[in-house]
Amino acid sequence: MNRRLSQRMSVLSPSATVGLGGRIAALRAAGVDVISFGQGEPDFATPDVIKLAGIRAIEQNRTRYTAVGGPAELRAAIAAQLDRETGMPFDATQVSVTVGAKEALFLAFLALCDPGDEVIIPAPYWVSYVDQVRLAGATPVIVPAGPERGYRIDAAQLRAALSPRTRALVLNSPANPTGAVYRAAELRALADVLHGRDVVVVSDEIYDAITYVDYARWLHVAPEFADRTLIVNGASKAFAMTGWRLGYVAGPADLLEAIRAIQGHASTHTSSISQAAALVAYAPDAPLADAVAAMVAAFRERRDRIVTLLRQIDGVAIEPPDGAFYAFPQVAGLLHRPLGPRGVVCTDDDALAEYLLDAARIGVVPGSAFGAPGHLRLSYATSMAQIEEGLARFAAAATR
Ligand SMILES: Cc1ncc(COP(=O)(O)O)c(C=O)c1O
Repeated sequence: MNRRLSQRMSVLSPSATVGLGGRIAALRAAGVDVISFGQGEPDFATPDVIKLAGIRAIEQNRTRYTAVGGPAELRAAIAAQLDRETGMPFDATQVSVTVGAKEALFLAFLALCDPGDEVIIPAPYWVSYVDQVRLAGATPVIVPAGPERGYRIDAAQLRAALSPRTRALVLNSPANPTGAVYRAAELRALADVLHGRDVVVVSDEIYDAITYVDYARWLHVAPEFADRTLIVNGASKAFAMTGWRLGYVAGPADLLEAIRAIQGHASTHTSSISQAAALVAYAPDAPLADAVAAMVAAFRERRDRIVTLLRQIDGVAIEPPDGAFYAFPQVAGLLHRPLGPRGVVCTDDDALAEYLLDAARIGVVPGSAFGAPGHLRLSYATSMAQIEEGLARFAAAATR
């Protein structure tokens, strides 16, 4: 049957990470031993205090609808955390709790954009930005930032990308897929370019807990943008809570009212149980610092090891990423030349990722999926043993 779907569907691109997950699952089901570097989530358990709060919420029958965008108590707790982080006052009306950071971003674009509006997205980018902006009817304007500039756009690039139709700029620091972290002076320079322009900054800070350098926060550096900034964050990465679907968006009260108006007709709110558990995670005295520090220390050790191992492969180049849990090596040196015992020649990163799955039984995501051909993304949210074995397989498949 030739079913008619909305025009909107034609703007969507298939998700490379979901596609890779499906292929890995199929190979594993067939008994093949595949090592995956595809996962976009911490491989740690949610801390016990949060899990127990979730269990308690079920036992106490906190299983009914809450307010749209979450109970005031949770929104106030998140607002208080934002006060501490940004040094400026937030209140509960300025926060909405969402179904992961992903819904927060989608609601933000839906509330901000009309057809014809432009949203500036630095590349390499997390792929959902592009599809969400298109679904909102707007046009993504991609600004590429390569390895020579540490995958961070600069003021001149931002100036060149602005137009009278620019509605928003997406900033993602630390970034998926590169792990790039903007320095305070770089954020300041971007802020100066936006001075006096009616552009909203969508600051996706979902990896802020996982940094290996001093973290500069957008609103801390550019407080005058408080009335034009939407902060997106959540519990997924910081507290290893991806499946709980707990994110939030925070910003000026009028924008948050618009966002909640859409949310009221979409999800209403995320799970009441996740919200009750998050109340513990966002309490000012939450005993979580040790668990988060241990997770970040493990990620740092793995980052150092995967970078060392990648650099040992002829044709691969990488600088240590400053945050998140992804390595994003340049692999142009592996293209257009015979690889491995069979002398296979790959002409692009898509083919290289296919080859590595076929020949080395490792799952990696091609950089093209993130608007950065000539790269691969390897998540190191996996054990050191898997990193050692996976990279040994990569090296063997890349050497003749
Ligand atoms: C940059 C970025 N933003 C947002 C998200 C969405 O996070 P959540 O799982 O909270 O929806 C992800 C998830 O991978 C991400 O990498």
